[in-house]
Amino acid sequence: MAPTKKRAPLAAVILAAGKGTRMKSGTAKVLHELSGKPLAWYAVRAALDAGAAPVVVVVGHQAAEVEARLRSELPDAPLRFALQVEQKGTAHAVRAARQALRGVTGPVAILSGDVPLLSAATLKRVVAARGRARAPLALATMALAEPRGYGRVVRDGRGRPARIVEEKDASPAEREIQEVNAGLYCADAAFLWKALARVGSQNAQGEFYLTDLVALAARRAAPVAVEVDPLEASGVNDREELARAGQVLQRRRASALMRAGVTIEVPERFLCDEGVEVGPDTVIEPDVRLRGATRVGAGCRLGQGSVLADAVLAPGVTVRPYTVIEGPATVGAGAILGPFSRIRPGSELAEGVHVGNFVETKKTRLGKGSKANHLAYLGDAVVGAGVNVGAGTITCNYDGEKKHETRIGDGAFIGSDSILVAPLEIGAGAYVAAGSTITKAVPPGSLAFGRAQQVVKEGWVARKQAEKAAARRGAKGGR
Ligand code: UD1
Ligand code: CA
Repeated sequence: MAPTKKRAPLAAVILAAGKGTRMKSGTAKVLHELSGKPLAWYAVRAALDAGAAPVVVVVGHQAAEVEARLRSELPDAPLRFALQVEQKGTAHAVRAARQALRGVTGPVAILSGDVPLLSAATLKRVVAARGRARAPLALATMALAEPRGYGRVVRDGRGRPARIVEEKDASPAEREIQEVNAGLYCADAAFLWKALARVGSQNAQGEFYLTDLVALAARRAAPVAVEVDPLEASGVNDREELARAGQVLQRRRASALMRAGVTIEVPERFLCDEGVEVGPDTVIEPDVRLRGATRVGAGCRLGQGSVLADAVLAPGVTVRPYTVIEGPATVGAGAILGPFSRIRPGSELAEGVHVGNFVETKKTRLGKGSKANHLAYLGDAVVGAGVNVGAGTITCNYDGEKKHETRIGDGAFIGSDSILVAPLEIGAGAYVAAGSTITKAVPPGSLAFGRAQQVVKEGWVARKQAEKAAARRGAKGGR
């Protein structure tokens, strides 16, 4: 075997400074979200997955926000940011990255921040093709029946890429060309900086076009064109394209989960953020949405219309339809939630807990096997194991100024329609009578009543009727 030459590491530039005029938005295009991540995250992720380091993101519009968002999404990634103060074109944008790429002598991949479906495998293919051909430049191209909006690839007499012409600069004949520039390149660093210095702005848009690199490279050695799947390379320039890319991402997520053993009853009606995990043999009913850092264990069932954000579910949890979890929240094995439960931040529901319809929990721990099956509000509560919370029970955790805690011991029984005025402690095994307003501590093992004593007047109805009849007779006699 021939000794393998040590390859110079790959660096990458992501172009993300543009405003995205066609989005008609107050938010920079690359910050618009797809599956819970900003648009630019996808290109950065593909570059990182292809092994690029550093990855330089060229920012301009809302630069601080774009940088902050990407750094918080990818805290450990080798990211650098370069500022392009004025957006004078894609070549101008890459020039802005020069300082951030000092010392880089190997191949530089260039990606658009608005192309979210590109895979790392495709990027690697472009990088490898340039390496193999030892060409100054490789570019991704695709064949489109409807090439509108893209730069067209003009080939020379020998079929080699000679230049790219942007639509606005193209002749009618050139506009007929269906092979277009996908906007993904890999260039040799030395060539890149030399060529960029020679790119001018004499064109229909008065911009510095990165696409001019193709003609500049062709003078030295033919650039390599790598054909890629148009689906992967399609850009997001307006809201319709954003929605279409979102659909493709959702389909990919659903397929990956199904391959990993998750049942998705109607994949077209399932929404799932990047990074969400779902265990095998979990069944997902239609219209479920999983967001943020949600992790669902194996063998769970997620009922129709449920929305889970930042929720961590142990195996075997049943979420009945139309339940909302606004985490961070954890749910123990075998717990049953819903239908129509609302689990808010700081809820920790242990193994075997039942939380039923119209029950809201917030910053509340429910111990093993505890139940609150109907119409309850549990906020700032620490509830032990095996506790039964009756229908209509609420914790009065807020006095208008501060939040207070309610503590309920193991095995306690809270009768229906109880009002628990916090701060409050109810001991283990204690009983609270239905309809009570409890304001003082209830010791373990005791029974607390907090309601008016019932009064029974026997024979009251008959006496009342007799009185009425007498009054009627008296009235007649008087006439
Ligand atoms: C570009 C290509 C076109 C190709 C298409 C593929 C050029 C001149 N044209 O066109 O050949 O078919 O991509 O999707 O390159 N950006 C900056 N700074 C700037 C200008 C742009 O950072 O000054 C960024 C944008 O934010 C965007 C990316 O570069 O993420 C591409 O710019 P865009 O204006 O969308 O280029 P296209 O018209 O799509
Ligand atoms: Ca674009």
